[in-house]
Amino acid sequence: MKTNRDVVNKKNILCIGAGYVGGPTMAMIAAKCPDYRVTVVDINTQRIAAWNSANLPIYEPGLDELVRTVRGRNLFFSTDIDGGIRDNDIIFVSVNTPTKTFGAGAGMAADLQYWEKTARQILENSISNKVVIEKSTLPVKTALAMERILNSQPNGISFDVLSNPEFLAEGSAIHDLENPDRILIGSRETERGRSARNSIVEIYARWIPRDRIITTNIWSSELSKLVSNAFLAQRISSINAISALCEKTEADVTEVARAVGMDSRIGAKFLNASVGFGGSCFKKDILNLVYLCRFYGLEEVADYWDSVVNINAYQQERFIMNMMTAMFNTLAGKRICIFGFAFKANTGDTRESPAIFIAKRLLEEHAEVVISDPKALDNARIDLSGRAGVLDYREDPYEAAAGCHAIAVMTEWDIYRTLDYERIYREMAKPAFIFDGRNILDHAACFRIGFNVYPIGKPSLTHFES
Ligand SMILES: NC(=O)c1ccc[n+]([C@@H]2O[C@H](COP(=O)([O-])OP(=O)(O)OC[C@H]3O[C@@H](n4cnc5c(N)ncnc54)[C@H](O)[C@@H]3O)[C@@H](O)[C@H]2O)c1
Repeated sequence: MKTNRDVVNKKNILCIGAGYVGGPTMAMIAAKCPDYRVTVVDINTQRIAAWNSANLPIYEPGLDELVRTVRGRNLFFSTDIDGGIRDNDIIFVSVNTPTKTFGAGAGMAADLQYWEKTARQILENSISNKVVIEKSTLPVKTALAMERILNSQPNGISFDVLSNPEFLAEGSAIHDLENPDRILIGSRETERGRSARNSIVEIYARWIPRDRIITTNIWSSELSKLVSNAFLAQRISSINAISALCEKTEADVTEVARAVGMDSRIGAKFLNASVGFGGSCFKKDILNLVYLCRFYGLEEVADYWDSVVNINAYQQERFIMNMMTAMFNTLAGKRICIFGFAFKANTGDTRESPAIFIAKRLLEEHAEVVISDPKALDNARIDLSGRAGVLDYREDPYEAAAGCHAIAVMTEWDIYRTLDYERIYREMAKPAFIFDGRNILDHAACFRIGFNVYPIGKPSLTHFES
């Protein structure tokens, strides 16, 4: 028998989706709010088992310690989604929202099937009022659809949908959760909406200064997350576009970025030229934004943001073409070592990593590929499973590079900055090449050792006569 309660139980929190966002975010809330009981549920039983084990399903600096402190105290991981919904009135939803792969909007729009399934499951299992919080990144106006689903049965239960997008960056998630630039909470501007919003503000206010917790209308909140990612990715594509011009003109993109970034109106962050951005969010969120703009008939605006994604693809293909040109116009039969497969340092996540594209293209060119990474080899094996060609995986970078014709640096892991490159050079085929897709190595030192060095957006250093 369903009963109506006027107030929600504020001390129990549920999070549906135990991924890169749900797990770390809830661990931080549990740590900062010891009087709350936080439960994280997921349909993926293996993932939940891993969260309950010594071997967490994701790598993130500081995460192991954090989880060890709170797990079993006031943080619990479970597969009982229905029970979780029944017992908790504050429900964060952090399920995945990947790019749609089928039907209308395929390759562009967000696939909202996981979200919608969750909304229906919340509706079916609720016996008291709920505050449902969008933690996943969603197209603007999704809350409206959620409200319609949740309020589709006249059962006396009220549902308030809030938007509280997550801005953490993988690799620094724990730091970002502890010291966020801002927390954004959007709600309907009604009395109930504001009251629901306040219950979430109260949670974050335990450790985040009030002036960094901003509240907005729900549509602004949903849209701000997409726009933040679009702006961040745009800066990377902007400097990457300039890196191509630098390579033609003997300008040095690091010097250009420094000069440009010192303008306080521009700022220095996210101006490192590279082989391109990866990760599960940037591309998908920009495409989502592009799709929304086209939906609303804003073709020019859509084209503008689409170009950010296009430059990223161009930068990756350009990297392969530069390798090919440098290595005498053929990669066939050459052994190439990839340093780093994660999409960025300090994570094992390889979703949309440029290394996937580069490895696939190298195999298409009939190169032999050896992949090295301190945390991402398991994911790399999954990403490249079924690929034809010679593929090898070695955690040890020295073993990986031995006998290779070239090294391609794909991830800015610190360990790659400090390897013994003299030793590596001695054991490589000659002439030996380094293609630094992250501009992290000491290029002059590598050149002195004997390498032919190809950075991004700066003159190459080669021992060949022109
Ligand atoms: N990864 C990031 O850096 C990041 C940062 C900010 C925001 N986001 C957004 O957060 C959301 C989650 O991202 P993520 O990287 O954590 O994804 P993820 O794929 O790591 O985790 C999502 C989890 O949801 C689970 N799930 C899917 N459907 C479910 C259902 N019906 N019931 C229960 N569990 C279900 C999946 O099994 C998975 O474990 C996405 O919308 C993403 O855009 C991600």
